[in-house]
Order: sequence, then structure tokens, then C-alpha cells
Amino acid sequence: MEIIDSPRAMTAWSDRTRAAGRTICLVPTMGFLHDGHLALMRRAREMAGKVVVSLFVNPMQFGPAEDLARYPRAFERDAELVGAEGVAVLFAPTAEEMYPAGFQTRVVVSGLTDTLCGLSRPGHFDGVTTVVAKLFHLVKPHLAVFGQKDFQQLAIIKKMVIDLNWDVGIIAHPIVRERDGLAMSSRNSYLEPAERRKALCLYNSLQLGRKMVAGGERDGHRVREEVQQYIVSCGDVDIDYVAVVDAETLADCRTINDRSLLALAVKIGRTRLIDNTLLAG
Ligand code: PAF
Repeated sequence: MEIIDSPRAMTAWSDRTRAAGRTICLVPTMGFLHDGHLALMRRAREMAGKVVVSLFVNPMQFGPAEDLARYPRAFERDAELVGAEGVAVLFAPTAEEMYPAGFQTRVVVSGLTDTLCGLSRPGHFDGVTTVVAKLFHLVKPHLAVFGQKDFQQLAIIKKMVIDLNWDVGIIAHPIVRERDGLAMSSRNSYLEPAERRKALCLYNSLQLGRKMVAGGERDGHRVREEVQQYIVSCGDVDIDYVAVVDAETLADCRTINDRSLLALAVKIGRTRLIDNTLLAG
């Protein structure tokens, strides 16, 4: 596996690889890799001859009061994990190279960014779309894989690709969970043992919502209310949102259908966790 840190060298590699007729699949990450990321890499390998994993803790997607400084980092360990997955390139640029002095551009998707996580993390998705746009230009992938845990991010990136006529296929990968159901996330490493136990209320609440729908409930707001009550009853948690939305438009979903998604953002101690599930099927 090659480790490339310069954007120019990354583009040169991609030009050569495309000229040789190889398919490139990008897996964008912020590092501190877990089995969820490795599953994305395996999916990428099934679909493309050459897989590029980017590792960049993107300052532009963190708000001033967020956890950029304490975001977990483990470059050596990450490089070993990526190397063991048959990845062709680990692209790990510095913030100075990605955002040189004088950088002034933002790629903004409106509408889809003004709800759910966008409300409590203003500007976050502009940082995500800007860095993903840069990565797409530098890596020139035919395909890119994103996890469904960040379902709003996924919807926004799909929209950006459609709106900008970008020739990149976006592949959604199902959420990868710990044995007990907690969705894998680099931020799980912040949780103290008692918080880790409490964090299970997210998964359990999603199961409650699915059970209600399996039992015949069709009112999205009733599902939301019960799920919310359940999370509150777990005690010592701070709900950012509980929502039942259309998986693509993210619009509020009053009547449950096949595209209805139950989505949550909950703070356990100082750690904000998100999770989601389709309610039917
Ligand atoms: O999902 C993430 O880890 C990040 O938002 C991404 C897509 C790598 C952009 O920084």
C-alpha cells in the first residue's frame, strides 16, 4: 500500500490509474478506524480494482465548541489496518495542504442541511460537502462508499452529486453494530463504562420503534413520541432530536411507509451519538 500525503501526488496517481483502465473506489474517513470502516473498505474492494482510503480529520466540519482537538487519532494503527485490507492508497493530507492560506470556497447543499443534525451543528455539512468535493476532485473516484449511520450526510452527498452532475457512484453501506447493537463510531471511544451501557438506549429505542410499526402502528408522530419517552426514561441523557423522516428528502413523515426512517441524536455525557433505522421491512 502506498501512503500519499500530497494532493498533487494523489491526482497524479489517479490519472495514471484511470489511464490504465482501472476502477477507483474511494472510502473517505477521519481515521481512528473501527470494524465499520473496514466493512466499507471490503465493500469497496468487491466493486473496484483500486481502493483509496482517505484519512483526514476535517477541521471545516467541526464547530468552534466541538471536539476537533480531542477527536481521537491513531495514524500508525490506522495505516496498519488499511494496509491489511488490500487497499491501494492511503491518502492522508495535512490541513495546510487541503486548506492553504487564502482558501475561501464552500460547497453548500441547501435544504437538506437545514434540519436534524444541521440544526444543532450549523455549518457542519458545508464542511463535509466541501471536503468531499475536494476529495472527489483529487482522487477522481468512479465510486465512493459512505456508511448509513450518517444518513443525513449520505442524503446530502447524493444530492450534491446529482445537482453537480458528478460522475461518481455513491454506495451506501449498512450500519455496522457492536454485538449488543450499539452502532460503531470513533466517538464511542469517549464513553466511560457506565456511559457505554447507557448508550445502548439508542439501539433499544430504535428496536422499540420497529416493534411498534411491526405491530401495526402507522402514525409517525406516535412512534416518535413513544421512542422519545423511552429515551427520557433511561435517565441522564440529553436528546438532541428524535425524528421520523423520509429517508431521501428528510421531510417529516406523518404516515409510515417503506422509506420512513427513525433517526436519533442523543448526548450521553459529553458524547453526541447518532443512530437510525428504517421502520418498516
Ligand atoms: O463521515 C465521515 O467520517 C466524514 O464526515 C467524512 C465523510 C470523511 C468527511 O470528512
